[in-house]
Amino acid sequence: MHYRTVAATCLVLTLALGAFSQVMGQDKPPAPKPDVKKEEPPKEEPKDPPKEEPKEEPKKEEWLNKDAFERLMKDIKATNGKMRASLKSKRGAETETAANDLAKHAEKIVKSDLDVKEGETKGQKMRDQKDFKGWAEDLKKAAEALAKAAKDGKWDDAEKEKDKVGVSCKSCHDKYED
Ligand code: HEC
Repeated sequence: MHYRTVAATCLVLTLALGAFSQVMGQDKPPAPKPDVKKEEPPKEEPKDPPKEEPKEEPKKEEWLNKDAFERLMKDIKATNGKMRASLKSKRGAETETAANDLAKHAEKIVKSDLDVKEGETKGQKMRDQKDFKGWAEDLKKAAEALAKAAKDGKWDDAEKEKDKVGVSCKSCHDKYED
């Protein structure tokens, strides 16, 4: 055979074989060597840096630890003293202001993070105790009522509220102050 014929025949055969094996799906790539490093799993799309959550919700109020709670009680004591002194001398505006301040302080009592020290509820949070919350509420209400009475010059009423304030302090301390 002429070499051209041989070459052409080879070419035809090669093409035909190639087409045939492709059709049969046998054109597989060589098997990877056993110890070929496995391909890393595709990296996750780099995420956007975590966005600052918009601070829609009011930041959760922080509880008052022992130091903060004692500071609060000192403020309460000072404000209570101011209130009583101005009430004694019937200075209406001053009494009203001090009593309103006392009511504001009283609202914070239930943020106490202190644990009950003794009794059945030992170890629980004071702020979760019904009586604790009740006395804090009593103090707030009495202080608000005292502010109003002082504003209106109703001194007898103011005196009664002052006594209620005293009862709330004492009741709570008797049970919860160590
Ligand atoms: C609902 C409970 C509650 C009420 C109401 C309350 N207190 Fe207290 N108070 C406490 C507790 C509990 C402590 C002890 C805190 C501690 O162990 O650190 C305390 C401690 C104090 C202390 C000591 C603070 C210190 O330096 O250790 C003072 C002073 C005080 N109270 C004043 C008052 C006055 C005055 C009132 C009323 C006008 C009042 N408290 C009402 C719960 C209360």
